Amino acid sequence: MKKKVIYSAVQPTSQLTLGNYLGAVNNWLKFQKEEENDCIFAVADLHSLTIRREAEEVRSSTLSLLAQFLAFGLDEKKNILYVQSHVPAHTQLSWILNCYTYVGEMSRMTQFKDKSAKHADNVNMGLMDYPVLMAADILLYDTDLVPVGIDQVQHLEIARDIAIRFNNIYGDTFKVPEAKLGKAGAKIMSLTDPLSKMSKSDPNPMGRINVLDSEADIVKKFKRAVTDSEAVIAYDPENKPGVSNLLTILAAAEGVTPERAAEECEGLMYGHLKLRVADAVAAMLKPVREEYNRLISDRAYLMQVAKEGAKRAAKRAKKVLRRAQNAVGLLVE
Ligand code: TYM
Repeated sequence: MKKKVIYSAVQPTSQLTLGNYLGAVNNWLKFQKEEENDCIFAVADLHSLTIRREAEEVRSSTLSLLAQFLAFGLDEKKNILYVQSHVPAHTQLSWILNCYTYVGEMSRMTQFKDKSAKHADNVNMGLMDYPVLMAADILLYDTDLVPVGIDQVQHLEIARDIAIRFNNIYGDTFKVPEAKLGKAGAKIMSLTDPLSKMSKSDPNPMGRINVLDSEADIVKKFKRAVTDSEAVIAYDPENKPGVSNLLTILAAAEGVTPERAAEECEGLMYGHLKLRVADAVAAMLKPVREEYNRLISDRAYLMQVAKEGAKRAAKRAKKVLRRAQNAVGLLVE
């Protein structure tokens, strides 16, 4: 039986948020469990250069994210876990794909527009080209499914468009991938502003839970979460975004639907709902934090995992890169 290729990646920043965890990694763990899947997960360090950062911070957060992957329970033997920049095929394919992507379509991307507005003093080419590198990441492994949160769906669409366009010119070269959203948690909102997504770059730290936050911090942040003045627990994202976000988090943490979580919490006061969610999240993250603390001090082991992963990824990526190089007429030895 041919296994399904599952590919996804996360940008390295100091710590993942609960949004990254529930929107993406939690689903990776489900895919890893099923025998029919062949999973590849990357630390997208090249993507993180589109925002100006200290070199030492890029380096340490790359290793930290790899340790977080392992602490979440991703298995380096069963899956391929690697660092994007360790596999040169990503930038090589990315250049080829650039020549089949239009400036107009890149400048219309929502994330490009948002980030250019936020970093108006540094609207660099990388920021605009970011979805093309992401398309290269995905297409290099003949990927079937890409588990991501809602904010990445537009990038997935463009990866599909580029693959289809290329295949139309040169014949079947790339497998056309599909996005895969989780049942719950595909968009976790900020705790202080439930109308915007929980984000690593939110300047207000109270809006986000980091996966390595202490139990006391988790409780403190949930206690201050913005709700509404009705005091009725219901899952209604449009009219009750704050309460619905808490229910979504509870549902994703406990593996039920948000509607079911609402039924279970019916009649609770908001204060009690917040504590219930905080407890569920703290219990879910405690083993992750403990395992992370153990792993992060073992640099040699982490470097070994990265090296092994890159070797396996590079071997597979090379085949697809060759296909694309041949298709466009590069002289391949
Ligand atoms: P990144 O690092 O911003 O986010 C990583 C994953 O977390 C999801 N996510 C969320 N899900 C639910 N609620 C939220 N508030 C939330 N915030 C983030 C994202 O949808 C994503 O799945 N470009 C990508 C990284 C990347 C990639 C790839 C992904 C590079 N190459 C190839 C898939 C395939 C990014 O910046 O994700």
